[in-house]
Amino acid sequence: MIRNAAPNDPRTIWRDRFRAVRAETERRAAPLSAEDQAVQSMPDASPTKWHRAHTTWFFEQFLLLPHLAGYRAFDERFAYLFNSYYVAAGPRHARPKRGLLTRPDCGEIAAFRAHVDEGVEQLITAATDPKWPEVVRILEIGLHHEQQHQELILTDILHAFAQNPIAPAYRGDWQAPRAQSSRGEFAELPDGIHSIGFDGEGYCFDNEGPAHRVLLQPLRIARGLVTNAQWLDFMADGGYATPSLWLSDGWGAVAAEGWNAPGHWQEQDGAWLVLTLGGLRPVDPQAPVAHVSYYEADAFARWAGKYLPTEAEWEVAARANLIDDAFGIVWQWTRSAYLPYPNYRAPDGALGEYNGKFMINQMVLRGSSQATPAGHARASYRNFFYPSARWQFSGLRLVDYVE
Ligand SMILES: [Fe+2]
Repeated sequence: MIRNAAPNDPRTIWRDRFRAVRAETERRAAPLSAEDQAVQSMPDASPTKWHRAHTTWFFEQFLLLPHLAGYRAFDERFAYLFNSYYVAAGPRHARPKRGLLTRPDCGEIAAFRAHVDEGVEQLITAATDPKWPEVVRILEIGLHHEQQHQELILTDILHAFAQNPIAPAYRGDWQAPRAQSSRGEFAELPDGIHSIGFDGEGYCFDNEGPAHRVLLQPLRIARGLVTNAQWLDFMADGGYATPSLWLSDGWGAVAAEGWNAPGHWQEQDGAWLVLTLGGLRPVDPQAPVAHVSYYEADAFARWAGKYLPTEAEWEVAARANLIDDAFGIVWQWTRSAYLPYPNYRAPDGALGEYNGKFMINQMVLRGSSQATPAGHARASYRNFFYPSARWQFSGLRLVDYVE
């Protein structure tokens, strides 16, 4: 029983939020067999059951052990297996070897989840009023953290299925969301000083602030996302075979990886197919391109005689409602390095490792994708990946500077 169990009681609201997020993870894992859930297709991707366990460990480690009196860890060995990268939380299993963990099996992980769910609900009920704000702070981070892993459950299994010659479908009835047809239109962005970064109500990750001023040059931003039709033109024009279009590291990646098309594409009888969450389907020329790396997005922009936006340009345009499909289709590469904003400091403690220590050698993506859980992203949200990564639903839009 939740005390004061009125529907607008904060404890009831948090309990319901917790249940909803935890249930969404299980809903996403449900179409996958135990064999599907164990596989790791590359060091960057994790098995489904690892995601289910790691998100659970996060609540156990950062919420229950410090804050729920008398809480007993489900299994003392799990901290080693399911800690991802929190050095302050202790030693951990090597990331590239997550696919070797056939045990604990899916049933044990389900029991781990149930154990922690019970503990969290107990804490939501029992936390004293003085402790409540700190409980909510960690609980909220844990929920947003689990939503990030919900996206990875889909992108990681899609990458695994893409290695399988029979091209399995995650769900045969999966439909990609439809993009608006922006017909190549560009919108003028007001130049001058603007503010970016999170400054509103509600939740944000630490890396989204502090809000600060930026100076924008006069520019135009594409209302729409770059489409597969445009990408096929780039390919037909020798885009993947023209070194002058590529950054040196990008050209190295093209050679090393043998890239000649976006990720998960394959050519059959002269036609391009793409492995989607619904299985292998013809490439839809009208759909936004997905599964391209930063290197490819950058080369495409150069080929098109345009640029990728900076993250500040993207955010100003999104806040002004000048762009279509900002959210929910593909993350959009920006040409901004993932760096701390002015006056950013990573929080103290183990959770300070969440974002701050990754602010080197990665590029920012903005928006959200078709795999992002509803309500997770916002205009100030900063996603980040290494420039060679392309297993996410990553695409692009272009900008052009006014002379
Ligand atoms: Fe994580």
